[in-house]
Amino acid sequence: MLLTHASQLLTLQGEAPRRSAQMRELSIISDGALLIRAGKIVAAGTTDEVARHELAAGADEIDCRRKVVLPGFVDSHTHPVFIAPRLVDFEKRIEGASYEEIAAAGGGIRSSIQGVREASVERLAEHVLDALREMASYGTTTVEAKSGYGLSFESEMKSLQAIRLAAERWPGTVVPTLLGAHLVPTEFRSDPDAYVDIVCEQMIAAVAKQKLAEYVDVFCERGAFTTEQSARILHAAVEHGLKTRVHVCQLTPADLQPLLEFHPASFDHMDYVSDADLRLLVKSDTVATLLPAANYFLGLDRFPPARKLIEAGVAVALATDYNPGTSPTTSMAFVLSAACTHMKMSPAEAITSATINGACALGLQQTKGSLEPGKDADVAIFATQDYRELAYWFGVNRCEKVLIGGREQ
Ligand code: NIG
Ligand code: FE
Repeated sequence: MLLTHASQLLTLQGEAPRRSAQMRELSIISDGALLIRAGKIVAAGTTDEVARHELAAGADEIDCRRKVVLPGFVDSHTHPVFIAPRLVDFEKRIEGASYEEIAAAGGGIRSSIQGVREASVERLAEHVLDALREMASYGTTTVEAKSGYGLSFESEMKSLQAIRLAAERWPGTVVPTLLGAHLVPTEFRSDPDAYVDIVCEQMIAAVAKQKLAEYVDVFCERGAFTTEQSARILHAAVEHGLKTRVHVCQLTPADLQPLLEFHPASFDHMDYVSDADLRLLVKSDTVATLLPAANYFLGLDRFPPARKLIEAGVAVALATDYNPGTSPTTSMAFVLSAACTHMKMSPAEAITSATINGACALGLQQTKGSLEPGKDADVAIFATQDYRELAYWFGVNRCEKVLIGGREQ
């Protein structure tokens, strides 16, 4: 397949992750072309250059005049295994209650548990698949998907099986994550450590054995899990050969040093980050994944300090945080918009964060996140002529076509 005459081809080729000023460098080719064979990118360059390639003759051509062509978005943080929207919480918040107040009154994450516990694996898989298909229609081709609304051994395993089933039916790439430690379920409220034992000894062991997840995540936060409990869980993950990532600093600051010991691929949210932790992050490979759609949906004035992180040299990624409580959106384009308007990221920084740096947050930078020879041909084609429009138009979908593994969806 040959894509030709793109107004702008954003290859994002080069160093990964991108930090500081490099994040503004999208490696743009005007009148760009992309040659794809057997699901992989063979060549990227100007239409003149690529058309001369020996494999270009006879290829199926897609004319990309007046289009922006870029790597499919990598949505590196989602919670798609749930049944119902949380409309009561939504109205309560409109009336003035905060996320934490709603959670303390029995709403929040707890109110999504029953639906998941009662649902069949097939029904959950259908919900996940619907979300994945919607994501692809917005230009997303790689998705990290967490469990976390089952909160019992059986229901967490069922949630990960649902992710596996949905992933088998979707052409994109799904990276599964166990988030058994999303919240202490009500039945363990008087003995949270007994629940941590179940996560460490039962869930993580079974997930590793059955290869149901690549990552283990923990919600390290006031009202969820302490840093000590989180460290125990991450330790168990590493012992079982699983990789780690952490929800942290969403509502309150945390000391990141004890968590960094486990080399997390990513720290997610990061609304509150101390200067000392900033210095540690700059020296590490851990990506800071910012989720501004959650701040938007919770109606917060405060957003993660993207400028401070970028200027210090931390590798920053953006993701939707798709979930029923804080971020019911599958749209990476909306996230780009929120990142630019509320976190003062430039459109180029936002696109870098949603592609190559998102791939780094999943350890997939060798195959995803940029358009370079040898990489997977996961491509989004937008009906815009300038990349800045991706973050400019909001509440609408300008993604016109998506290729996954070189196949048109
Ligand atoms: O990333 N913070 C923890 N988890 C989700 C919200 C989960 C929910 O409210 O259902 C988040 O924002
Ligand atoms: Fe989340």
